[in-house]
Amino acid sequence: MEILIKNIRVIDPYTNTDGIRDVLISRNVFASVGKNINKRASKVIDGTGLWLLPGLIDMHCHLREPGNEEEETILSGSTSACSGGFTTICCMPNTQPCVDNKVVVGYIIEKARKAPIKVLPYGTITLERKGTSLAPMGELSDAGVVGFSDDGNCVMDSLIFRRALEYSKPWGKIVVSHSEDHMLSKNGVMNEGALSTKLGLRGIPPEAEHIMVYRDITLAKLTGARLHLAHLSTKKSIELVKEAKKNFKNITCEVTVHHLVLTEDALINYDANAKVNPPLRTLQDVKALIKGIKENVIDAIVTDHAPHSEEEKGSGIENAPFGMIGFQTALPLAMTLVKYGLKPIQIIEKMTLGPARILKIQTNTISEGAEANCVIFDPKKEWVLTKENILSLSKNTPFLDMEITGKVLCTFYHGSPVFSDKTLI
Ligand code: DOR
Repeated sequence: MEILIKNIRVIDPYTNTDGIRDVLISRNVFASVGKNINKRASKVIDGTGLWLLPGLIDMHCHLREPGNEEEETILSGSTSACSGGFTTICCMPNTQPCVDNKVVVGYIIEKARKAPIKVLPYGTITLERKGTSLAPMGELSDAGVVGFSDDGNCVMDSLIFRRALEYSKPWGKIVVSHSEDHMLSKNGVMNEGALSTKLGLRGIPPEAEHIMVYRDITLAKLTGARLHLAHLSTKKSIELVKEAKKNFKNITCEVTVHHLVLTEDALINYDANAKVNPPLRTLQDVKALIKGIKENVIDAIVTDHAPHSEEEKGSGIENAPFGMIGFQTALPLAMTLVKYGLKPIQIIEKMTLGPARILKIQTNTISEGAEANCVIFDPKKEWVLTKENILSLSKNTPFLDMEITGKVLCTFYHGSPVFSDKTLI
């Protein structure tokens, strides 16, 4: 099938393109990208007012298979992701059992064959994510993991973390740190401050993050290994990374969409769906994160899509697990950052090229000859996120029943539409 998209705004960080083009998709590649393409095609799409973006890459999400398939499977999660414009997602290894051996890696890779998009698993840093002895990192790497992380848990033992960084080097794969001092954050529910006191909820001080960000950077410098700092949430963390990046190239970091668009105020009504780890912080922190994107201190924007059942999230804010889903809201919510002066191409860069560079995987680009992984996005379309249109098996999001501006209309993977909201194709 040949698809010709006319007059669409192509935004592609890889080629630094932001302009109106015609795009011809033939077989599984972009056959032509230019102005006034008049080739016959089996399908012609009028792209007026729409955007064509490279397929998004999410380097941090949680699928719950194996172990908690009622919350998410590899298929349900990847289906939800592709409807949000993602064509590659990387899933964290905190499944049950966790991904600390090649058998579980093989299981995920096998299941991922049925996914509509690419799913790349992480392996753990330590056995059972307990932080006490290293996982077989070579075996995990050979089995196909994209990097190593104990996400959800911080490797508190600095010697173990140092060894993990050292052992990761021969495979050239990143170690993704969940930087949190668990002693400081113990039993915490939300950001520590006046609001947590007012709400009577135990706080997680920003220092629980800073201390470990500082330690992790220090150990990355000591070992020369590639460190990636996950879901940074505070002003101080960004300052630490900015300083470290001045003379050390092996440090990268990410921020989640929810830490960019929400503050701790989302917890005012004790909404457990806004309980995430690290916690939502203050407006001052949010502004620093946005500045971090502008200044390229932050390399990637991620979803940290974290499905949880209604029962678990409904068990009271103190007992509820951390996390919110995010695949289908990530792109429109990230685009709201243009109001702070970010350009759409800067935002897309952090959701495509940025993560691809960190992971050393191929990025998506709307260039002639490149594999046609792309997204048609309507930046003006208004829609309401409902339990019915969430394709994830879990519905834990504070954005439920809210009106959202901007919607993915179609996602192409290998040149085929793997998601369409039926208005175009
Ligand atoms: O909010 C979170 N949820 N943060 C994490 O680090 C883990 C994740 C999960 O697995 O639910």
